[in-house]
Amino acid sequence: MSRKAADIINDQVKKKPNSVLGLATGGTMMGAYAALVDDYKQNGTSYQQIKTVNLDEYIGLEPEHPNSYHYYINGHFFNRVDIPKDQTYLPNGLAKDIEAECQHYESLIEQIGGMDLQLLGIGQNGHIGFNEPGTSFESTTHIVELASLMRQANSCFFNRLEKVPTHAITMGIATIMKSKKILLLVSGKKKAHIIAQLFTGKVTTQIPASILNTHPNVIVIADQEALSLL
Ligand code: GLP
Repeated sequence: MSRKAADIINDQVKKKPNSVLGLATGGTMMGAYAALVDDYKQNGTSYQQIKTVNLDEYIGLEPEHPNSYHYYINGHFFNRVDIPKDQTYLPNGLAKDIEAECQHYESLIEQIGGMDLQLLGIGQNGHIGFNEPGTSFESTTHIVELASLMRQANSCFFNRLEKVPTHAITMGIATIMKSKKILLLVSGKKKAHIIAQLFTGKVTTQIPASILNTHPNVIVIADQEALSLL
């Protein structure tokens, strides 16, 4: 899975060396970043002209906090390839005015030309980024209160459930859908149910990822367990 994903990302970087990549975090992505770092070491794929925008970030965690998405993406990717740090963007979860930060992030994405390729994971309830069921398909970058299922799913990365932040900033569904290409990575039995629902083709805000059925250029890379209910 990770190899395939890395091949597609590499292709994008080679074909358009100044691409804007939309990045995701979470357990599923770790292998893909490791494969990209391998390619960088072995084949010298250069990220000198690449710009990146991350999907989301918790509110209230310092970039140095081991559970922040800043920390994750620095450790798994940015610190291990040649991308200039000032070409990498994440929502600032420490901003004094979070509403203004959301607007700023949305216009920044527009200014740099939007994503050429967006990496996406999916939650068990079909969330993408931190866009929970019920989120408007028209949503742009916004503040979300994290649902209990999401906080539980992420609590393994924190010592205790109470330590999982209660709010986050996320690209909206409309923001994600503007990406020219979308790469959805799905792994494991826990995701089989949601993948089966996704592939019915029904589009509903109750399953945020179902909007991907209307995007002209989506690639799904999944393992057998995730596809086991199809
Ligand atoms: C979090 C992230 C999502 C990610 C999801 C799935 O909620 N905000 O962007 O897709 O988790 O993560 P995992 O790959 O660990 O299952």
